[in-house]
Amino acid sequence: MSDVIRNIDDLPGVGPVTAEKLRGGGFSSIEAIAVSSPLELHEVADITESTAAKVIAAAREAADIGGFLSGEEVYEKRQSIGRITSGSTRLNELIGGGFETQAIVEAFGEFGSGKSQIAHQLAVNVQLPVEQGGLDSGAVYIDTENTFRPERIMGMAEHMGRDPREALRNIHIARAFNSSHQILLAERAEDLFEEGGSRLLIVDSLTSMFRAEYVGRGTLAERQQKLGMHLRQLHKIANVYDSCVFVTNQVSAKPDAFFGDPTRPVGGHVLGHSATLRLYLRKSKQGQRIARLVDSPSLPEGEALFMVTEHGIEDK
Ligand SMILES: Nc1ncnc2c1ncn2[C@@H]1O[C@H](COP(=O)(O)OP(=O)(O)O)[C@@H](O)[C@H]1O
Ligand SMILES: [Mg+2]
Repeated sequence: MSDVIRNIDDLPGVGPVTAEKLRGGGFSSIEAIAVSSPLELHEVADITESTAAKVIAAAREAADIGGFLSGEEVYEKRQSIGRITSGSTRLNELIGGGFETQAIVEAFGEFGSGKSQIAHQLAVNVQLPVEQGGLDSGAVYIDTENTFRPERIMGMAEHMGRDPREALRNIHIARAFNSSHQILLAERAEDLFEEGGSRLLIVDSLTSMFRAEYVGRGTLAERQQKLGMHLRQLHKIANVYDSCVFVTNQVSAKPDAFFGDPTRPVGGHVLGHSATLRLYLRKSKQGQRIARLVDSPSLPEGEALFMVTEHGIEDK
């Protein structure tokens, strides 16, 4: 064993078999293990909880997960937060000036409420210069519902007087085929962020694969565990690479027996407490959409009206 702990195989108590099981369960980095619980590791890697506790302690020591910061340091870190315009000034105002980096922003709402349209618009707008509401950067797009449309990107870019081909070249798209693949893609996405040039990650939809694959009460705990793991990865991308992570979550306006109240979407507490900002989208008349900000840590609850038009997201 080497003295320097760089990956999970280097952790004392983790042999090749355990390392393989940990990776299979999504604990592929020192950081992921450092923030896990002994019970989680016991479940995925078949090690005792006391061994797991020792592994976690070693990972915490090795990981660069930081400790306490002064209030001033936190304030300074927040000064570097970038914002991406949605295309609607009212929607931007509702969320404190645009879609922010170092955050996961969740849009939930029923089919057709505008979630994917916002995703497309952000992928174009992040490319704008800062003074025009962009971050002069590219986007990474994980598409789980096969609703990404390059033509829509081109149309939006053209409307803004931007080169449509260039707009497409600045977006990396991957289609996820199931929830495990989606988790893997988020890990791969990290490499793209590491290379630089991207400051927006879209996961459209965050929850559909999980919803389809984990049906029935017995699978709820497993679903929440996988989703929680996925969200930790997304938070890492948001924070380490100063990026905005925009995720969508389809809910039914008509509460159904399984998922209940639409304002408490699938993902439940894991998601509810994990997204930094949550927007509930509703359709209104004549192409209008209503966005309601819910559960914000520092912004007042409120609503904004915006439009989805042939040009993209616009003010009413
Ligand atoms: N080119 C377009 N011109 C005008 N409206 C559009 C266009 N493309 C999509 N829309 C509007 O967006 C809606 C779909 O929104 P979308 O974001 O895909 O929904 P979801 O919330 O299910 O992801 C359509 O029903 C339509 O109202
Ligand atoms: Mg959609």
